[in-house]
Amino acid sequence: KIEDNIRNFSIIAHIDHGKSTLADRLIELTKTVAEKDMQNQLLDDMDLERERGITIKAHAIRLLYERNGEQYILNMIDTPGHVDFSYEVSRSLAACEGAILVVDATQGIQAQTLSNLYLAIENDLTIIPVLNKVDLPSANPDHVAQLVGDLLGYDPDKIPRISAKTGINIPEVLDRIVDEIPAPKGDASAKLQALIFDSMYDTYRGVINDIRIMNGTLRPGMEIQLMASGATYTVTEVGTFTMKRNPRKELTAGMVGYVLANVKTISDVKIGDTITDANDPAENPLPGYKDIQPMIYSGIYPIDPEDYKNLREALEKLKLNDSALQWEPETSDALGFGFRTGFLGLLHMEIVQERLDREFNVNIITTVPNVEYHVYLTGGEMIKVSSPSRLPDASRYERIEEPYVKAQIFTPKEYVGGLMKLCEEKRGEFENMEYIDETKVILKYDLPLAEIMFDFYDKLKSISRGYGGLDYAPNGYRANNLVKLDILLNGDPVDAFSVIIHRDKSASYANAICVRLKDLIPRQQFDVAIQGAIGGKIISRSTVKAVRKDVLAKCYGGDITRKRKLLEKQKEGKKRMKSIGTVEVPQKAFLAVLSLS
Ligand code: GTP
Repeated sequence: KIEDNIRNFSIIAHIDHGKSTLADRLIELTKTVAEKDMQNQLLDDMDLERERGITIKAHAIRLLYERNGEQYILNMIDTPGHVDFSYEVSRSLAACEGAILVVDATQGIQAQTLSNLYLAIENDLTIIPVLNKVDLPSANPDHVAQLVGDLLGYDPDKIPRISAKTGINIPEVLDRIVDEIPAPKGDASAKLQALIFDSMYDTYRGVINDIRIMNGTLRPGMEIQLMASGATYTVTEVGTFTMKRNPRKELTAGMVGYVLANVKTISDVKIGDTITDANDPAENPLPGYKDIQPMIYSGIYPIDPEDYKNLREALEKLKLNDSALQWEPETSDALGFGFRTGFLGLLHMEIVQERLDREFNVNIITTVPNVEYHVYLTGGEMIKVSSPSRLPDASRYERIEEPYVKAQIFTPKEYVGGLMKLCEEKRGEFENMEYIDETKVILKYDLPLAEIMFDFYDKLKSISRGYGGLDYAPNGYRANNLVKLDILLNGDPVDAFSVIIHRDKSASYANAICVRLKDLIPRQQFDVAIQGAIGGKIISRSTVKAVRKDVLAKCYGGDITRKRKLLEKQKEGKKRMKSIGTVEVPQKAFLAVLSLS
C-alpha cells in the first residue's frame, strides 16, 4: 500500500536551535530541489520572487527518499514558532505521526523545547530527539543527551548528534524518520475527513488549503463541505508540494497536500476544520477544532480621517491572509472613525501594525491594547467588553471578570527570587516550581492576561539576564476589583485613553500618565489640565501651562529658506496631531500612554 511508505512529520525546537537549518539539509540531501531548478529560479527574477513567496508560505513540503531500493515519501510540515500561534502549531502537529525535537547541544532544554514537546505529546506523536550544533566547541552533547533522554524516556546513547550547519549525521536523521515514525493509518475508501492545517490566499486562485487526508479520497470535481463553517465548494485541483505545486489525480488517506476550490471567502476556511464530501459526509469532524478567539484588542484609527477608506481596505487585504485577525468599525470621540481590532497576542498585534505601516502606507494611531472583560450586569446578564470606553456605568454591573493565563516561566535557578517578585507585582498566584535539571527550573503561575501584555516579558528577560523564557495558555476568567480609569483633558474624557485596571494599581497608573502627558502635550494658548478620574472622582492631576510656541523666534534676520523649513516642519508635526476638544494631542502622546501600561 502506498501509505506504508509515507512518513508525516514536523520539526519542533526552541527558537534558534536550528529547525530551519535542519529542514534545509533534509531538502538538500533528498535532492528535493534539483540543482538545475535552483539555477532556473535564479535566472528568472520574477519566478524567484514568486517561488520565494510560496516557499515562505509553504507549510508542507514533500521529500522523496530512497533506501535499499524502497522509495519513501516524507512530508515535512512546518509549524509557526510563537506562543501566539500555539493553536496553529497544534493543528500542524495533528497532521503528523511524528516530530523531530531539535535541541541545541550548547543550550540544552529551553522553554519552547518543552512547550512544543507537550503539544507533540498531546497529539500522540512519536518523538525523535536530535542534538544539534555538535560542531561548536561549547557543545556539551553527553550532558544534554542525558537530560533529554531522562525527559523523554529515550536511551541517551541513541540520540543522533548532528550539525545541521556542517551536515554531520544528517542521513541518520532520515533513517530515524523512516524507521521510527509510524506510517499513517486511515482508510482511503472511508468517508472523507481531511484536516486543514494551514491556508493562504492567492489573488488568482483563491484560498489554498494545506490539508492532511485522514480518511477517504479527495479528487477534483468533488463537492466538498467545510464542516465547521458549513460552506460547500467544488474542488478544482488537488496536489502535493515540492518546490512548486504539482497537481495530482487524487489525494488519499495518509497523504499531505493542498486543495483548491475557488474559495474567495477566507472566513469560510478555519484552521483545524475538517473537509468532507458534501454528498457523502463523514459523521463527525476530526477532533481538536477550536474557534480561535482574539486574546487582546486595540483600536486602530487613521491619523488623517481621509485615510479611513484606505485603512478599511488595508485591513480587508490583511484579513485575506490572516484569518485570526478580527475587526469591526468603532467610533471614538477623540479619534473619530476607526476599527476595534482583535489579535491573538502582542506579537500578532505588532505584525499587523507593522504591515499596515509598511505595506499599505497608512498612518495609524493605536490605542492601549486591552483584554476582553466579562461584565455581569445587575440583571444577571453577561456582556463582553473589549473596549474600555464601552464599560457600562458602575451602578449597572455587579462584577467584572478578567481572563487569566497559566504561565510557565523557565529560568536558571539563581533568578527564581527576582522572577517570583515580578509575578507577585503582576498579581500572579504561585502554583508550583519544578526542577528540569540541577540548574534550571519552571515556575508556574496563574496570572491575569492583562498584566503580562506589556512589559512582563522584557522584565522577565532582564531579571534573568536573557536566559528566562515564557510560555502561557488561557486559563479561564476570574472576578477582581477592576475599575475604569478615565483621563480628562480640560475636563473632557479622552475615550482612547480610558483603561480598565485593578483598583490597587489605578493611582500609580494615573499619576504616571499625567506626568508623561504633561511632557508630551505641547503648550497651547491656554492651560491644559490633565486629570485621572475613576467614576468622576479625580485621583491625579497635572497642568500644561499656556505659552504660544513661536518657531520663528530664533531666526532673526533674513534667512527665508530656513524660516520656510521651520514652518514646514511645524506643519508636518501638526499632521500627527489629533484635536481633542480644544486640545491638540500629538501621536507621540498616544504611543507613550501605550508604552507605559
Ligand atoms: P527560528 O526559525 O528563528 O525559530 O530558528 P531555527 O530554530 O529555525 O534556527 P535556525 O535554523 O535559523 O538556526 C539558528 C542559528 O543557528 C543560525 O545562525 C544557524 O546558522 C545556526 N545553526 C543551526 N544549526 C547549526 C549547527 O549545527 N551548528 C552551528 N554552529 N550553528 C548552527
